[in-house]
Amino acid sequence: MNKTAIKRLTMIGRHFPHSAKTDEKAPLKVCITGAAGNIGYALVFMIAQGRMFGPYQKLILHLLDLPAMAKSLEGVKMELQDGAFPLVSEIVVTTSTDKGFKEIDVALLVGSKPRGKGMERKDLLRDNGNIFKSQGKDLEKYAKKNVKVCVVGNPANTNALMCSLNAPSIPKENFTALTRLDQNRAIGQIAEKVGVPVESVKNVIIWGNHSATQYPDISHATLSNYPVVDQADSVKSCVDEEWYKKTFIPTVQKRGAAIIEARNLSSAASAANAVCDHVHDWIVGTKPGEVVSMGVISDGNSYGIKDGINYSFPVTCKDGKWTIVEGYSIDSFSKEKMQATEKELFEEKSQATGN
Ligand code: NAI
Repeated sequence: MNKTAIKRLTMIGRHFPHSAKTDEKAPLKVCITGAAGNIGYALVFMIAQGRMFGPYQKLILHLLDLPAMAKSLEGVKMELQDGAFPLVSEIVVTTSTDKGFKEIDVALLVGSKPRGKGMERKDLLRDNGNIFKSQGKDLEKYAKKNVKVCVVGNPANTNALMCSLNAPSIPKENFTALTRLDQNRAIGQIAEKVGVPVESVKNVIIWGNHSATQYPDISHATLSNYPVVDQADSVKSCVDEEWYKKTFIPTVQKRGAAIIEARNLSSAASAANAVCDHVHDWIVGTKPGEVVSMGVISDGNSYGIKDGINYSFPVTCKDGKWTIVEGYSIDSFSKEKMQATEKELFEEKSQATGN
């Protein structure tokens, strides 16, 4: 590469200051299940544009969906080709997991049955449990042993757990569930309420399940480096306690249902955007001082949450590994909410495993 070309790449890199320059690295193999679906259709183009792995990382995209969607998948492939994305080295279209998961580095498990109007989570659990058990087995058989998995299909936390339980030779830390959409939703609500840009709202925590029991916690959130609330139960001038407890928390908890009500479809572009945020931060690393939320395996050592479920915690990420941020003070209001969502996750686990 000549000096002018390198300089041009460096200039481009300034627009992605948090992305590692990886133009010399081998292409990453990324499988997107449900690639012909609502979220998949938004997600594949965001990935192709470099939104997930940065502007230098070449990609081999494995687009996987059910046989009934084979034709539609071909259409997605054609559109990806028509985008002429420089980062996309190859596009593999398939309806079988042996080909879809073969030697992959990253699995974005979106494919599942979406929640329709009036559908309960337990119905989803029943319908999707089997999909994720069998995908766990197939990841075990075909994927790289260090594959990183982000589960999006609902109920995402329990699906991630089911996958992991069925892939014993892949580290359980490699199975995560998406709660970043909830975090982003919470940030959007706070920014609008306080009248600040979204980027000034930091460190909102999503505890627990990606469901209506999740606890969006602003006790430790900051606003342009000033605390949104002084300490738990002591709400500062920018948001009042009544709004926090009676409007903010239920709005974030039920945002998915509100979008279904409005669009007659579940969230798609915002979900795809959140998947990019989640995987980007996991692989590239979180910014200094920034805390994000991810559904990860609980080990019984953090915040009193028992081991053996996939629970959303505050984490930081470095060198492709997440670490739970310890030491936040938890008041009785928070504790109760954190335990309620923990209880639901254990119930889901027992429904999914039949134990
Ligand atoms: P969709 O119905 O538009 O697309 C799902 C796609 O998955 C379809 O093309 C379907 O054929 C495919 N699929 C189903 N079973 C599959 C399997 N076993 N292997 C491969 N592909 C399979 O649904 P949409 O809107 O894209 O949502 C996907 C999932 O994401 C749903 O479960 C939804 O509830 C969930 N979701 C999760 C969010 C989160 O924050 N965790 C946010 C929004 C949606």
